[in-house]
Amino acid sequence: MKLHPIELSSEKKAQCIANGPKIAFLVTIALVLLTLIPLYYPLPSYASFPWSSSSSQKLSSATHSSSGDGGSKVVTSGRDCDIFTGEWVPNHKAPYYTNSTCWAIHDHQNCMKYGRPDLGFMKWRWKPEACELPIFNPFQFLGIVRGKSMAFVGDSIARNQMQSLICLLSRVMYPVDVSYTKDEYFKRWHYPTYNFTLATFWTPYLVKTKEADPNGPTKTGLFNVYLDEYNEEWTTKIEQFDYVIISAGIWFYRPMMFYEKSQLKGCHYCLKENVTDLTMFYGYRKAFRTAFKAINSLPNYKGLTFLRTFSPSHFENGLWNQGGNCLRTKPFMSNETQLGGRDLELYMIQMEEFSIAKREGRKRGLQYRLLHTTQASLLRPDGHPSSYGHWPNENVTLYNDCVHWCLPGPIDTWNDFLLEMLKGEGRKSFGWRLHTSNSRS
Ligand SMILES: *[C@@H]1O[C@H](CO)[C@@H](O)[C@H](O)[C@H]1NC(C)=O
Ligand SMILES: *[C@@H]1O[C@H](CO)[C@@H](O)[C@H](O)[C@H]1NC(C)=O
Ligand SMILES: *[C@@H]1O[C@H](CO)[C@@H](O)[C@H](O)[C@H]1NC(C)=O
Ligand SMILES: *[C@@H]1O[C@H](CO)[C@@H](O)[C@H](O)[C@H]1NC(C)=O
Ligand SMILES: *[C@@H]1O[C@H](CO)[C@@H](O)[C@H](O)[C@H]1NC(C)=O
Repeated sequence: MKLHPIELSSEKKAQCIANGPKIAFLVTIALVLLTLIPLYYPLPSYASFPWSSSSSQKLSSATHSSSGDGGSKVVTSGRDCDIFTGEWVPNHKAPYYTNSTCWAIHDHQNCMKYGRPDLGFMKWRWKPEACELPIFNPFQFLGIVRGKSMAFVGDSIARNQMQSLICLLSRVMYPVDVSYTKDEYFKRWHYPTYNFTLATFWTPYLVKTKEADPNGPTKTGLFNVYLDEYNEEWTTKIEQFDYVIISAGIWFYRPMMFYEKSQLKGCHYCLKENVTDLTMFYGYRKAFRTAFKAINSLPNYKGLTFLRTFSPSHFENGLWNQGGNCLRTKPFMSNETQLGGRDLELYMIQMEEFSIAKREGRKRGLQYRLLHTTQASLLRPDGHPSSYGHWPNENVTLYNDCVHWCLPGPIDTWNDFLLEMLKGEGRKSFGWRLHTSNSRS
């Protein structure tokens, strides 16, 4: 794997401090490079790298060891089936909505509109190894969530999933906008016939943040991230929700200043003298820990909390700002790729924090589930907008978007998973299944 100068210099920063002049030179080079790199909000900064990786650990083994943890196994035709392990298979019936039947598609994910030539990426469905995953049934979903509320807590990929859900449900009905603010990052929708409420809360770092510098070392903004402080924009608003789907990822690749107990503790790639680089992993772990702690400490919260696992991006032949792109037109098979490098590390961290949160939550009767989307998403390098998230002549910074997901597209399957899990909850409460998976964790 060819590392980008940013990555090299950022990962070497710790040694750098001790290493003196040589490092100062490296950092200077990196700074010069970085200053030349324009970026734009709210997309990730230097997001990802090709999938070849140094790590030998396969995601699929992580999947196996963790799938029981979320209590997410479902019974299909009498068997205990891990719905998150499988392959993509052709599905000529898809897609189930288009950009003309659904208005909820965010412009940058409207790949049809921008003339993506190959539409084959829509024509796949996820086939779990040991059972079938039904295609999303909007009537069934609305029946299950009747009188309930669901919150997506996270970044633009959380919003991406919510918009997929609105589109999948649009075959039955559209929601009414009942947002409590004009802020597009905090949307609230209501389905009157079903009295179902859907909301998004924008919190890419999950904890309290403040933009310290709109530029910063990579011109993507430098954020103060208060790792032990709740982001009250969502923590004060989710108490009444029945389902909370939490996620975080790409923003942790950006430069950050880490605060704890109101003191500057260190940073990630801030390139400031005398500030220790604690790495993105440090911040990611603490941010999840604090977010879960917030949830577990809400006195009236009785909801079911889902961790939607890390969504991998698929830049190949360069990073996002070095001509990297995602030009594949069909899925990988599971033996063709594996999660690696920093993405694997982030993935493992969130699984560990999830387990801790789950244990803590159980003490007061709160339940946690894993919406384990990473493996299925990893196999879809063809599902991103690439350059079809805008017009060719448009001046956008993330010209090739290999981070978000086209709608319709593979992210719709995340909602197939979600529905299947909600059905599983129903089976549990009706005693239709033996509790085998829960006792395992
Ligand atoms: C939908 O996509 C088509 C191309 O397939 C495009 O002509 C049209 O403008 C798009 N409509 C919307 C509302 O995005
Ligand atoms: C709608 O659902 C909410 C809970 O989400 C509940 O508090 C409210 O009473 C319901 N309204 C009606 C008319 O059923
Ligand atoms: C960094 O620490 C050294 C030694 O304590 C000090 O001399 C120097 O002024 C500090 N630099 C900054 C930018 O604070
Ligand atoms: C992956 O598995 C398929 C069949 O299961 C096989 O045809 C293919 O050669 C394998 N690819 C690799 C890279 O091992
Ligand atoms: C694109 O936008 C950037 C920043 O707004 C500007 O510096 C650059 O000149 C623009 N490029 C083109 C080709 O318009």
